[in-house]
Amino acid sequence: MPADSILKYIFAFCLVLSLSAAATSARAESGSLSRDPTEPASSRNGMVVSEDKIATLVGLSVLKEGGNAVDAAVAMGFALAVTYPRAGNLGGGGFMLVHLGGTGKTVAIDYREKAPLKATRRMFLDENGNVDIERSRHSVYSCGVPGTVAGLSLALEKYGTIPLGRAVATAIKLAEEGFAVSAELRKSLLEAKERMKKSSESMDVFFKNNGEPPRKGKILRQKNLAWSLKEIGRNGPLAFYRGAIAKKITAYMEKTGGLITKRDLASYQAVIREPVTGSYRGYKILSMPPPSSGGVHLIEMLNILENYPLSQYGHNSTRYAHVLSETMKLAYADRSEHLGDPDFSPVPTEQLISKQYAKRLANRINPAKATPSKYIKPGSPIPGQGTNTTHFTVADRFGNVVSNTYTLNFSYGSGLAVPGTGILLNNEMDDFSAKPGTPNAYGLIGGEKNSIAPGKRMLSSMTPTIVLKDEEPFLATGSPGGSRIITSVLQVILNVIDHKMSIREAVAAPRIHHQWLPDTLYVEKEAGEGLAAALRKKGYEVKRTGPIGSTQSVTRVNGFFHGAADSRHPGGLAQGY
Ligand code: DON
Repeated sequence: MPADSILKYIFAFCLVLSLSAAATSARAESGSLSRDPTEPASSRNGMVVSEDKIATLVGLSVLKEGGNAVDAAVAMGFALAVTYPRAGNLGGGGFMLVHLGGTGKTVAIDYREKAPLKATRRMFLDENGNVDIERSRHSVYSCGVPGTVAGLSLALEKYGTIPLGRAVATAIKLAEEGFAVSAELRKSLLEAKERMKKSSESMDVFFKNNGEPPRKGKILRQKNLAWSLKEIGRNGPLAFYRGAIAKKITAYMEKTGGLITKRDLASYQAVIREPVTGSYRGYKILSMPPPSSGGVHLIEMLNILENYPLSQYGHNSTRYAHVLSETMKLAYADRSEHLGDPDFSPVPTEQLISKQYAKRLANRINPAKATPSKYIKPGSPIPGQGTNTTHFTVADRFGNVVSNTYTLNFSYGSGLAVPGTGILLNNEMDDFSAKPGTPNAYGLIGGEKNSIAPGKRMLSSMTPTIVLKDEEPFLATGSPGGSRIITSVLQVILNVIDHKMSIREAVAAPRIHHQWLPDTLYVEKEAGEGLAAALRKKGYEVKRTGPIGSTQSVTRVNGFFHGAADSRHPGGLAQGY
C-alpha cells in the first residue's frame, strides 16, 4: 500500500475512534449544561458553536482529528438531525457560507427546498380566495423538496477532506444507540405533539411511550433514521434523491396525495452561489444571497446605519434604538417587494446594497419620531418565534470558517415523517407568498417575486454571515428566529464593531426588532421598561417580548478564537481547543 494511502487509512481509523468517543461523551453529558473547564470558549486551534452541546462535541472531535471546518460542519449537520430534531434535519434545507483559508475565497451553498413541479400559484387558496393556513403549514402540501442531504454532501465533496461515510458515522451511532433526552427536547416534543399526531412515523419515533415523549434522561433511539443515515453513508446523496430513501418518500407522497415525485427528487440540486458582499466601517461583510433575503437586507441596513455615529449614541439608547427601528422598517418594506428566487425573476441586489441608495433611505429617517409603516394590515401579528431553525459556526486553524443555518421551518416542520425513514419533512412552502399582501407565519408580506411556481425556491430570512477584517475572518454568526433572524445578526455585528463588545457581551445584549409590518417595535424585556417608554414617546407601538433570535457566533481576535452560544436558548455550547 502506498504511504499516503496508509496515512489516509490511519487518519480515517482515528477519526472513527474519536467520533465514537464524542458520541459516548455527548451521551454522558447531554443531561447537564456544564462546560468542560479544560476546553474553554476561547482557543487557538479551532472553535465550534451550536445550539446543541452534543453537536458541538461532534464538530470539535472532527477538528481535533485534523478534519477541517467543513468536515466538522457536515458531521454536525447530520448529528443535529438526530439530536436536535426540531430543526436539525435531513428533510429540510438551508444555507451554508464557507470561507476558504487557502484561497481567501468565500462561497455560498444554497440548499434551500424547492416547490414540487406539481405546485401551483394558488395551491393554498380556498374557494373564497383566502389562504388556507392548515394546508400551507400543516399538510403534506406544505413540504418543499428537501435540500439538506444534497447541500451537506456538496459542501463535503467540494471543500471537505473526509469521506461522506465518515461524516455520518457519529450521527448513525447517535441514532442507533441513542442519546439522553434533555428537558428542552421533551418540552419541544410536548409543544409539537398535536401537529405530529397525524404522522404514525412521528408518533412511533417520539411518542411511543403511550403517546408521551421520553422523560428527561431517557435514551432516545431512532432506528429508522439510523437506516436512512447508513443509506446516505453507503450510497451518498443518491440514496436520498434516487435510491432507497427516495422510494420511501415517493411512496408516502403517493399514499397521502402529496406533490413530491420521483422527478422532483431526482432533479434537486444544491447550488453554489456568490455571497452577497458589502462593507461596514472598513470591515467586509459576506452573507447569503437570494433566495435568502438575509444578506441583502443585512447589508442594506448596515449601509444605512453607517451614516450615523452609533457608538456615540450608545448601545440601546433611545436615539440608537430609534435609528435602528426606522432602518429595519425600510429594509423589510423592500423585502416585501423585491426579493424572491433569482433563478425565476431578477432581484435588484446591487441596487439594494448600494451605499448611494442607503444614503437616500437614511435621509428619509425622521430623527425626532417614528414614521408610521404605510400599509398596515390589521390582524397580522407575528406569532411567538421559538427557535425552530438552527445555526452553527465552525472555525478551524487552517483559516476556514463555516457559518450554516438550516431548518424544517416550524419546530419539527410539518410534523410529518416519512414511514420507515425517521425523516421529518419541512413545511417550508409557507415561506412563499401564498397571496400577495397576506402575511406568512412570521408576519412577512411578499409579492409577485415570491409567488409559488414549480421548481422555485421560497424566500428565506436565514442569514449565515462572515465578517472579514483585512481579508481575514474576524466574526461569523447566524441565528434562527424567522423574520427576526436578519435583525439579530445585524445587532451582533453592531455590538462588536460599533460598541466594541466581546462576542459574549454582543450576543447577550438585549435586542430589538421591527419588520415594517406589522407596525410594532419588539423590544426584549431585558432592555428595560425605560427604553420601551422612551420609544413609545417617539411614536412607536412597543411590545416587550421574550427572546429575539439565538445567535451562534465566533470571533477571532489576536489569533484567538472566541465562541458564544446564545444563552437565550438553553443547551447550546461554544467550545474550542
Ligand atoms: O427560511 C426562513 O426564513 C424560515 N423558514 C425560517 C424559520 C425559522 O427561523 C423558525 N425558527 N425560529
